[in-house]
Amino acid sequence: MPSEIPAPLPIHYDTVHLAAEDHYEALVDELVHRGSCVVDEIGSLVFSRDAPGPAAWARNSWLAPAEYRVQSIGDAARVLSSIQRNWHLHSIAHHRRAQLIADRLAPIRFRPLDFPARVPSAPLGAFGLLDRDRLLASPVCSSAFADGRPVFTEDRHGPPNRAYLKLWEALTLARNPPGPGDVCLDLGASPGGWTWVLSQLGADVIAVDRADLAPKLAAEARVTMHRGDAFGVTVEDLDRRPDWILSDVIAYPTRLHALAAYWCRACPQAGVIITVKCQGAVDPTEIDRFLDIDKARLRHLSANKHELTFFRLPDAGPPEGASRRP
Ligand SMILES: C[S@@+](CC[C@H](N)C(=O)[O-])C[C@H]1O[C@@H](n2cnc3c(N)ncnc32)[C@H](O)[C@@H]1O
Repeated sequence: MPSEIPAPLPIHYDTVHLAAEDHYEALVDELVHRGSCVVDEIGSLVFSRDAPGPAAWARNSWLAPAEYRVQSIGDAARVLSSIQRNWHLHSIAHHRRAQLIADRLAPIRFRPLDFPARVPSAPLGAFGLLDRDRLLASPVCSSAFADGRPVFTEDRHGPPNRAYLKLWEALTLARNPPGPGDVCLDLGASPGGWTWVLSQLGADVIAVDRADLAPKLAAEARVTMHRGDAFGVTVEDLDRRPDWILSDVIAYPTRLHALAAYWCRACPQAGVIITVKCQGAVDPTEIDRFLDIDKARLRHLSANKHELTFFRLPDAGPPEGASRRP
């Protein structure tokens, strides 16, 4: 029988966000823009009130945070175990003590994922010590991965560059990746990391770029290359309506917004995944406009640099991404 969960301490926030690396300010600006009140900041954690839910610039959002007074290491471990089995330590303070608590919890093996991979279905909570005797724990987090970072077994031979990792992560979060018989339009495809992923999945790929694909990919039977402007392609130019539209084109967010809006409208049943590249300081208003598109989600992937990934999936996922609240 699990022991009883002790009463949590009163708190004045409803979400704790772990900022994406180097994007702390972008996260705070995003939260303020969407009407959240930032009430505290500790390290890379931002404590906010009023607009709960995942944030785009967060690696992980702790959605049900609670604080507990704990008398000892054993006491803290008992509190956590009484809530649920799986916890990841995100150390905040009293690091050694926090690690001793983690050592007393049920072990979890974080093995690298072999793509295509499933998002773990078991909930993974996050915890840390705010003080010697003050435990912060959230059994519900936006990401099922430790600190929001899926780690993949890399392929150092097949793809022409490392961009494939970004699409592996995006398609893992999408849950239902493309497969045989699907038509994927890959905009800004060169040298072909994404095209390689899609072709490996058995999909037919229409790759568009001003530059060439790696010769090995260009020669693949499932890959058709169109040399030209990715912004000039319309659905009428294609022999078959695409099931997926993917873009990794480098362009200003306003142009990418127009691209996202067009393809979401032209192919309402398709999955759309677009990298939203940012230049310099991020304008939260500009980024927020992407969420005006029906079923849109935005997320900073661990493989993203100064950019976000836009998703418009038929099931309105992935749940890890920020979405427009009603
Ligand atoms: C970040 S790279 C894409 C990497 C690619 N996803 C991969 O996995 O290898 C951006 C690509 O966008 C292409 N690009 C930029 N503007 C473009 C445009 N207007 N039309 C077509 N391609 C464009 C560039 O030539 C470049 O190959």
